[in-house]
Amino acid sequence: MLDLKRQYRPLHQELLEAVDHVLETQQFILGEPVAAFERAAARQLGVAHVQGCSSGTDALWLALAAAGIGPGMAVITTPFSFFASVSAILRAGATALLADIDPGTFNLNPAAVEAVLNKPQDTPVRAILPVHLFGQCADWTSFARLGKDHGLKLIEDAAQAWGAQWQGVKAGALGDAAAFSFYPTKNLSAAGDAGMVATNSDEVAERARMLRQHGMRRRYYHDEIGWNTRMDGFQGAILMVKLKYIDGWNAARRTAAERYHALFAAAGLAEAGPYPTRGIVLPHEVPGSHHVWHQYVIRTARRDQLREFLASRKIGSEIYYPVPLHMQHALKSLGYSAGSFPEAERAAREVLALPIFPELREDEQQTVVTAIAEFLS
Ligand SMILES: Cc1ncc(COP(=O)(O)O)c(C=O)c1O
Repeated sequence: MLDLKRQYRPLHQELLEAVDHVLETQQFILGEPVAAFERAAARQLGVAHVQGCSSGTDALWLALAAAGIGPGMAVITTPFSFFASVSAILRAGATALLADIDPGTFNLNPAAVEAVLNKPQDTPVRAILPVHLFGQCADWTSFARLGKDHGLKLIEDAAQAWGAQWQGVKAGALGDAAAFSFYPTKNLSAAGDAGMVATNSDEVAERARMLRQHGMRRRYYHDEIGWNTRMDGFQGAILMVKLKYIDGWNAARRTAAERYHALFAAAGLAEAGPYPTRGIVLPHEVPGSHHVWHQYVIRTARRDQLREFLASRKIGSEIYYPVPLHMQHALKSLGYSAGSFPEAERAAREVLALPIFPELREDEQQTVVTAIAEFLS
């Protein structure tokens, strides 16, 4: 599914030197290695401020808390994402409301969000948290309009979307605050857990900085109850090296995605979406969006059988996500049930992520497509 060693080998020496520098300077937590990465990351995204932290999950909590979201406020997000998109809202003390997805992009559907906004809610809605799922931005034109019309904060879950753009603006610079993950399988990845918050607001940035160090502005004087969620020096140093290469890696992912499109079309397997019948529905890039192909996710009716067939051929695939968030045991208290979000539930039955990473070779992609053609015939 993913061979991380292919990325590591050519960077071996450069990464060792970066790690060695951290050991030599003994700057293990925040410090210059993290500050240097934060400055470079902010420049690359075109955003005023960046704060490194310990994970994407913490970045989501930090972004929400720094933007002033907390108890007595509701946040609308998607049921079709990684668990943290919802759990971070609850961790911030807020109420999570869900709205269904667009079956074509798997992203939060603005019309469904609007329907939630137009219904009376027990807790006033204060923010929307769209996820840029699989590396493609959520429909920001619509979310920006909803945010403006209803006076809401917009928090981006950009964990999967380093380098993605909406109408020329990079993910991370679109909302009031954004959260990124550098989990080792992400497009831009650390050597362990790491994350960051991006924002154009001086105030949100200052609050995030304070909250990631136990609410301290001044050492050992605590203004608020924050948390310990600092990025460590090794991760800052490693990310700084990788930042030089990420645009090239994302371009290679686009090439790989275009190759899949062409190979599936040539094999006559691609069918018009959004729902599959006998073939497969391919992922697509929405006009105005720049996709970074964190995942290449197809839809197919006999998904589980296809996955088993691919596994028998030693071809990796993955299901993101098999259980929508409203049907997770841990989130029963949200009060939803099976049938609440039909698009998310159907997607959970039909999606399959195929191998995609910058170093994936054409012959490997051909093997994947040939195996799927064999299964479908
Ligand atoms: C959409 C989404 N949100 C949040 C996270 C959480 O990031 P992390 O695993 O770094 O805590 C992830 C990654 O796992 C993710 O894919």
